[in-house]
Amino acid sequence: MAFPTETVYGLGADASNGRAVARIYELKGRPPTHPVIVHLGSAGMVGEWAAGLTDDALAAADAFWPGPLTLVVARSRRVPDEVTGGSDTVGLRVPAHQLALALLGAFGGGVAAPSANRFGRVSPTTAEAVREEFGDGIDVVLDGGPCPVGVESTVVDATGPRLRVLRPGAVTTRQLSQLVGYEVSVGTSSTVRAPGTLPSHYAPAARVELVELDGVWARAAQLSADGAAVGVLTPVPPGDPAAVEVRFLAVMATPEDYARGLYEALRGADRGGVDVVLAVAPPPGGLADAVIDRLTRAAATAR
Ligand code: TXA
Ligand code: MG
Repeated sequence: MAFPTETVYGLGADASNGRAVARIYELKGRPPTHPVIVHLGSAGMVGEWAAGLTDDALAAADAFWPGPLTLVVARSRRVPDEVTGGSDTVGLRVPAHQLALALLGAFGGGVAAPSANRFGRVSPTTAEAVREEFGDGIDVVLDGGPCPVGVESTVVDATGPRLRVLRPGAVTTRQLSQLVGYEVSVGTSSTVRAPGTLPSHYAPAARVELVELDGVWARAAQLSADGAAVGVLTPVPPGDPAAVEVRFLAVMATPEDYARGLYEALRGADRGGVDVVLAVAPPPGGLADAVIDRLTRAAATAR
């Protein structure tokens, strides 16, 4: 079933049932080598899924669970290969969402869940968006309304002596650094593969271009002259649009607004028949880094 979390909607299956997990891959059209996150109802269940946690991993779990943080740790033997994509690590997370926690509590086990979208596409932040992705392909969609965070969890490699951010999210690198007392680095590590960090990902049907605020209208005019329908995402209302016709405009003022609204804006642009989305990134730092990461990956998709 699909269920809401504070980040995005997940497509969940019993994490101890390899066949159920394989069905998720099938539905998503996702290569079987990509690991999925195991969602737990409480941090106390970690021992069943992890072979052991480093002190820093424990500290991060203590500080940020329930919350938008996924810890990649050494897997326990009971974790099916379908969950880990064959690697010897597993991603674990306790989500901070009432409905998700109610589901996990009632189920009692771990729930393997990637974002409830087709592979490479935009993650859903509403139940309607999940239906849009899969139609009748899934049995149950729990509707918890729009997701309050809007971008996927921070994924942290916690297998080594130092934490490392593999995917930025709402738990920021600065928060993690303050917690552990050293500068936590960002980027893929040599020991842990994170296929969800492919350069092209999180992409709508429209082409996405990253542009500077003061170049928006010139680029929009150029594209319109070529016959393209243009959409604009921006943290600041752009100045005078002059005579340029924009099919879709989303102004998301704060990094929180931008994160919360990003995927619905990309979907909105697609629904409106936009050919090219011009995205002005928010100023970097904190949650904005997650927004910039997703925009950059959306823009990296050649089409
Ligand atoms: O916020 C989220 O994390 C959402 C909600 C539903 O919890 N889930 C989500 O799942 O975004 P997914 O499958 O779309 O992204 C999971 C990310 C991928 O980048 C994947 O590579 C990474 O986590 N990941 C999971 N397990 C891993 C592992 N054992 N080693 C390395 N990376 C892992
Ligand atoms: Mg995903």
